[in-house]
Amino acid sequence: MNVLVIGSGAREHALCRSLSLDPAVTALHCAPGNAGIAEVAELHPVDALDGAAVAGLARKLGADLVVVGPEAPLVAGVADAVREAGIPCFGPSREAARLEGSKAFAKDVMAAAGVPTARSYVCVNEAEVDEALDAFGAPYVVKDDGLAAGKGVVVTDDIEQARAHARACGRVVIEEFLDGPEVSLFAVTDGETVVPLRPAQDFKRALDGDEGPNTGGMGAYSPLPWADPKLVDDVLRTVLQPTVDELRRRGTPFSGLLYAGLAITSRGVRVIEFNARFGDPETQVVLARLRTPLAGVLLAAANGTLADLPPLRWSDDAAVTVVVASHNYPGTPRTGDRIDGLDAVKRQDAPHAYVLHAGTKRDGEAIVSAGGRVLSVTATGTDLNEARERAYAAVSRIRLDGSQHRTDIAEKAARQG
Ligand code: AMP
Ligand code: GLY
Repeated sequence: MNVLVIGSGAREHALCRSLSLDPAVTALHCAPGNAGIAEVAELHPVDALDGAAVAGLARKLGADLVVVGPEAPLVAGVADAVREAGIPCFGPSREAARLEGSKAFAKDVMAAAGVPTARSYVCVNEAEVDEALDAFGAPYVVKDDGLAAGKGVVVTDDIEQARAHARACGRVVIEEFLDGPEVSLFAVTDGETVVPLRPAQDFKRALDGDEGPNTGGMGAYSPLPWADPKLVDDVLRTVLQPTVDELRRRGTPFSGLLYAGLAITSRGVRVIEFNARFGDPETQVVLARLRTPLAGVLLAAANGTLADLPPLRWSDDAAVTVVVASHNYPGTPRTGDRIDGLDAVKRQDAPHAYVLHAGTKRDGEAIVSAGGRVLSVTATGTDLNEARERAYAAVSRIRLDGSQHRTDIAEKAARQG
């Protein structure tokens, strides 16, 4: 199978790594990719938001399957363009990707499907905003309606900050505050059959102890020793399957990766958000544990044959990933800094720990930072403690001037199991 992956982050590196280990994959391409992905896939320049360009590249390469990683191309209709060119594509249509592209649309689908989520109002002016803030009280949750790379949400006790965020966004969703731990559960779906993956937890705040601003994600781990063993079955029944059924009923079936961001509240599971693609950094730990070769799973989703797929096989290992971010992330990150120590990780930590590249590029002989999140250092172990130790040992070998990472990824969970 000849596979083309679209995207350039650590998620795409994780996808390409798994695909490169799949014996069914005979050729692996990535566009535009990054310096780390170049080690496992052939890179091609492309404007990932340009459906015609992506479809043209896929045709030129003779791709049997295109996997669209990030949300922006999906929302722009890139998967539609690939499918129209007659090439199987893993990733939802523009219409179905609105589940991530518009918080208001997602709320509407959930209401229709009876999926439990935070009560909310869509607000378009200051009077509506004040009324909604008043109705729910503190802590206030104000969400930009559109795509915002994980940074469009403000959760605050300060009503002036909540108002200011609403003013800056224009159209917002204001909702009740959900208490309790968060879980990310991904499912592969062909629009009808839904195959859940293993749950993971990510760390959204920039600093240890869940302090600091929201980010795209600073680390993740799986499994969740503290979670109810029935969680996956419950979420499949109450959230994932009804959502997929509702989108099919509307004539806009969702095929690809459905990501449920959940809060485990005292009153039960609630959806915080849906995403229309693999999450980053959770993908790094979920794929580290998947034993079933990946390409066949993604192709079955693209071709509508998931019902015929044997049950997925999983490793009992735990996995942890720690994101190394550049100076000043998530503000305006500094880029162009040289990264050292990557070879040392390969020599001393492989195969249990490895580096997945996010924002990196080659500069002559060197690899330099090229984005906010730079690397996602991933490790497996027989339990979370071992996976953590291995991940942090590898992180300690990496030199990147001004870089930052959290030191408490999976710490609490490791103490529990
Ligand atoms: P989202 O982009 O919707 O995933 O929101 C980003 C983060 O904001 C989530 O991971 C939560 O930590 C937090 N958040 C979002 N909605 C709520 C809510 N209703 N109650 C509490 N925290 C929330
Ligand atoms: N891990 C959060 C996200 O991918 O949106």
